Amino acid sequence: MVGDRTIVLGVTGSIAAYKAVELASKLTQDGAWVDVVMTRSAQEFVTPLTFRSVTQRPVVTEMFDLESEFSIEHVSLAERADLVVIAPATANIIAKLAGGIADDMLCCTVLATKAPVLVAPAMNVNMYESQVTQENIARLKERGCKFIGPAYGRLASGAWGLGRLAEIDDILGTINQVLGRGGDLAGRRIVVSAGGTQEPIDPVRHIGNRSSGRMGYALAEAARDRGAEVVLVSAPTALTPPIDVEVVQVQTTLQMRDAIAAATARADALIMAAAPVDYHPKTVAKTKIKKGTGAITLELVENPDILSEVKGEKGDFIKVGFAAESENLVKNATEKLKNKRLDFIVANDITATDSGFGADTNRVVLIDRSGKVTKLPLLPKSEVADKILDRVAELLPKRKAKK
Ligand code: CTP
Repeated sequence: MVGDRTIVLGVTGSIAAYKAVELASKLTQDGAWVDVVMTRSAQEFVTPLTFRSVTQRPVVTEMFDLESEFSIEHVSLAERADLVVIAPATANIIAKLAGGIADDMLCCTVLATKAPVLVAPAMNVNMYESQVTQENIARLKERGCKFIGPAYGRLASGAWGLGRLAEIDDILGTINQVLGRGGDLAGRRIVVSAGGTQEPIDPVRHIGNRSSGRMGYALAEAARDRGAEVVLVSAPTALTPPIDVEVVQVQTTLQMRDAIAAATARADALIMAAAPVDYHPKTVAKTKIKKGTGAITLELVENPDILSEVKGEKGDFIKVGFAAESENLVKNATEKLKNKRLDFIVANDITATDSGFGADTNRVVLIDRSGKVTKLPLLPKSEVADKILDRVAELLPKRKAKK
């Protein structure tokens, strides 16, 4: 989303200013034009040269600096911006913005811009919780500013509380989401499932599988970045929940079925990237099963097939399945496509080491109802996600938006 977009990054005087360097660097690596505007207090913590080095762009520090290409026309940055991000934002800048003060370049830019404004506060917990700061934040939200954080944690003063700058990855996620608002999935509700479910055997053991959840999480993030409202129904994973995605955590296949039935009631598409365990133990031992009694037998009961049975209110959302196969990839996947009445299926060979379970990359084959088979090369899961969503986006106009 950020590629070729102009992002004005306002940095203000908080100890968290050093973290904004990583934000500027990541945005630049992702292809954005990052124009950093620093307040005078921010420069007490980090030098403009640091930002200049990571962004390869001039850094604006003064309103009346004749050397700067932006200062001559004090609202030029405001006009160029696709998004203004203030990270970290102190109580002071929040108060100034709420009051419409324009006594430095950052305030002028925010006041004059028509671009969305994202604010990531970082300050002492008492300053954050003070009535006046909360009133200022509420005023800015009313005017359409989006806030991310602050997070709870250890603050510079040594105290614990709300006031830490949000995680950089969360700020990046929100930036993508804000820039993606007008994307090709805007106004659509997409449900994605991810991870391998777990079926308890006793209080400490379960039946599971090797699904890492990465493909589903990549799909949820990519759909969010293209403007969709996303519900991610996730089995347990080691992954961080994506920002601005509604995450429903489940453990068992039956719980996943119920969560998906609820989430798809008004969905435009369901993408089942999860690996639900197909069987559950008939009884779950209440206490830990002890060894030493010789062989034990587990009686397993078949779980429902979620994709086959799920229906929207009118049964008319797009259904996308995955097929994890170790042999006869296209033949087995085509059978699943038909049996589960899918719009298309994403098949992958789980015996390959560079794709499938646990890998960051995936090599998949897309098969649609007409029998058309499209082989994709080995790609990062984020790019596979976009290819899948391209297909979903092509099919969507043929169906009515629900909202
Ligand atoms: N799936 C499902 N409910 C299940 C099992 C699988 O909805 N109980 C979905 C998966 O999320 C995937 C597709 O069905 O999108 C195919 O899953 P896969 O594990 O490849 O196949 P199965 O249908 O379970 O068949 P088999 O294990 O025999 O290959």
